[in-house]
Amino acid sequence: MILVTGGAGYIGSHTIKVLLERGYRVVALDNLSVGHREFVLCDEFIEADLLDPKALERVFRDHSIRSVVHFAARTAVGESVENPEVYYYNNVVGTLNLLSAMRAHEVKEIVFSSSAAVYGDPEVLPIPEDHPKRPKSPYGRTKLMMEEILSDYAQAYGIGYVALRYFNAAGSDPEGVIGEWHEPETHLIPIVLEAALGVRDHVEIFGTDYDTPDGTCIRDFIHVVDLAEAHVLALERLREGRASPAYNLGTGVGHSVREVIEVCREVTGRDFRVVKGPRRPGDPPALVADPRKAMEELGWRPRYTELSEIVATAWEWMRKLYARLGRF
Ligand code: UFG
Repeated sequence: MILVTGGAGYIGSHTIKVLLERGYRVVALDNLSVGHREFVLCDEFIEADLLDPKALERVFRDHSIRSVVHFAARTAVGESVENPEVYYYNNVVGTLNLLSAMRAHEVKEIVFSSSAAVYGDPEVLPIPEDHPKRPKSPYGRTKLMMEEILSDYAQAYGIGYVALRYFNAAGSDPEGVIGEWHEPETHLIPIVLEAALGVRDHVEIFGTDYDTPDGTCIRDFIHVVDLAEAHVLALERLREGRASPAYNLGTGVGHSVREVIEVCREVTGRDFRVVKGPRRPGDPPALVADPRKAMEELGWRPRYTELSEIVATAWEWMRKLYARLGRF
């Protein structure tokens, strides 16, 4: 059985869906602080916090867990700057508790949800896995610390791990069963789509004076279902004992904020107001993955290579969600 922590969250819930489709048995754990109970598609769900070692002990005692896929973490960069304590406790202490329970129950496989935020400002583009790691936020530092903890635990205790460094996760389950739903929303694509839907008055571009072709930041958007697939491939490779410690997950193609806005206009067929704003502190000008290692070693191929396809799945989901919530 596979334990998925953060199974009610955006990427965790999509990964559970793919794991179930591949025939894996899954138990999900989530404290529901930001996740959504109805996103958990596996039969077994435990509402528990990684900061509660007794609850964790019960999960491992009551289930025959072979591997862990670990998503549970706070993920908002800005919030981590304002309130680092929440990040160090939830992300780092939570992971330590999880690893203690794994050790106690001799669970030796963990796939870890890491981030491009471990790199900080890129020195080269696209970014390879061995790029210097200088995270610019407490959030990014917690992800790097957790990777380092996993590396030390692998050495000392023989726990096998893979860290998957996502670039910008986007899009939603094409079947429309689950999708992206953050409150408050801070991510670019859902914000632009909210403006297209009319539930948001306008989109503000955070910085138009970057040293990029159109002056706005560049990001590498990767579909959440492609991310989910990579977790399954990484787990399988880990079980064969052949996994590398870390893989970048991105398409290798960057899109500027202005391009994203244009693609959203085309996909939705709607227009909305866009205003220029100041830079958001901490934003690197460009983040683009070199994903070759995941492609070569894991045999991973992102299926959503066009930004318009990614946006289309996000748009379909958002219209459905907001209709259900009665927000438009
Ligand atoms: N942006 C805007 N206006 C908005 C929202 C975002 O212009 O209203 C811009 C941002 O300034 C940035 C780009 O759109 O240039 C993408 O912003 P997101 O907030 O969607 O994503 P980030 O690139 O900031 O964050 C992602 C992940 C984080 C990770 C980070 C690494 O979501 O988990 O990359 O830097 F930490």
